[in-house]
Amino acid sequence: MGRCPECGEWNTFVEEREDAEDKTRWSGEKSGAVKPIPISEIESCYEKKLISGIAEFDRVLGGGIVPGSLILIGGDPGIGKSTLLLQASAKVSKDAGVVLYISGEESGSQIRLRSDRLGSFSDRLLILSETCLEDIIPHIKKVNPSLIVVDSIQTIYTTQLQSAPGSISQVREVSFQLMQISKKTGVATFLIGHVTKDGAIAGPRVLEHMVDTVLYFEGDRGHTFRVLRAIKNRFGSVNEIGVFEMKNNGLEEVTNPSELFLSEMPINISGSVVVSSIEGTRPILVELQALVSYSNLNMPRRMVTGVDSNRASLLIAILEKRVGLHLQGEDIFVNVAGGVRIDEPAVDLGIVSAIASSFKDKPVDAKTVVVGEVGLAGEVRGVTHIDKRLTEASKLGFTRCIIPKVKKDILRDIKIEIIEVSSVGEALEVLL
Ligand code: TYD
Ligand code: MG
Repeated sequence: MGRCPECGEWNTFVEEREDAEDKTRWSGEKSGAVKPIPISEIESCYEKKLISGIAEFDRVLGGGIVPGSLILIGGDPGIGKSTLLLQASAKVSKDAGVVLYISGEESGSQIRLRSDRLGSFSDRLLILSETCLEDIIPHIKKVNPSLIVVDSIQTIYTTQLQSAPGSISQVREVSFQLMQISKKTGVATFLIGHVTKDGAIAGPRVLEHMVDTVLYFEGDRGHTFRVLRAIKNRFGSVNEIGVFEMKNNGLEEVTNPSELFLSEMPINISGSVVVSSIEGTRPILVELQALVSYSNLNMPRRMVTGVDSNRASLLIAILEKRVGLHLQGEDIFVNVAGGVRIDEPAVDLGIVSAIASSFKDKPVDAKTVVVGEVGLAGEVRGVTHIDKRLTEASKLGFTRCIIPKVKKDILRDIKIEIIEVSSVGEALEVLL
């Protein structure tokens, strides 16, 4: 049914499978094999993590692939999900055990072609081009793999439901069955899912609460680098990112992303500021750019990419009210160079400085890093891990850092000129 006769919305119907009536619910008659056991007697599977050997990938997963876990990896089509998992599968099959790569999108020979391009593979990497779940399960039982990759979850269907592959009910049912296999046998399973920008339509978003880990593989088509980001992780920290570069022979790890992000930074141009942001456990230096130019529109444009646009509006208001910059009649564009996204209040002072620098057309010294959260009163507030941020900055050759007021003893070992500021006005005075 296309339209709901009750609420009038389109495409909101979801097919449900009718269960055979289960009389044992609540009555406790069903004598299942599973019994409650003391937590101290349960074996931890922590030490048996599968290591893929791709350091950026393992770190995002929390130090490796936990057996029996279900991992969803989402991303736009063509971003490199299949490439990444084929590379990881090749590594795991070489060092750890049998990998079953189930592809509903590509034929075996297409995958072979890709893997020739990527270089190495072993006999323990098995490819199965199949889309029907009922045909897949016997193979899983026979092969008994350590790792399963399903590429993609939208192409696999179960005959128990009538709806088309890729519909919400199919995606949910197939994932649920794979989850049960995974938990029972201890095989780790990767589900690849295509996500549309809003992620709503038949997207794998419905799975986010079912799986153990949700990763997003993102990047800008115009750029070669890709960021793998953990959104949810039952076994490690979230917001951890792994950076890769797409090359002719596959994805290559970028071990020092700051260098890459700063490599094209213009010198002595106004509106460009370097900030030190913590992504997961690691500090990353990125360049923030702002362009403020006279507008002849009634409603001047505010365009922001890479940082939260509401946050940017708030910071623009603070600049107007607390610092007295007349930004009303100006178009303002804010961008994070390299197409990365940063979600951290510690970059506030950087955004403010970049906008002010562009507005006054005065460049900020290129060897200066700016860190600090900005409050509504125009005050500069403390941030977490200030020592890590500064150490990274000094490692990359920066000589000066503008930071909030901190306790002296944290910064004892850091060899970089430190200027502590307590308000936005003070910071801008030092910078411009
Ligand atoms: P793919 O892994 O097929 O994307 P997804 O599975 O997310 O849809 O990646 C496709 C893109 O990657 C394609 O545009 C070509 C590019 N690519 C390279 O640049 N180098 C390579 O070695 C490979 C295998 C792909
Ligand atoms: Mg693919």
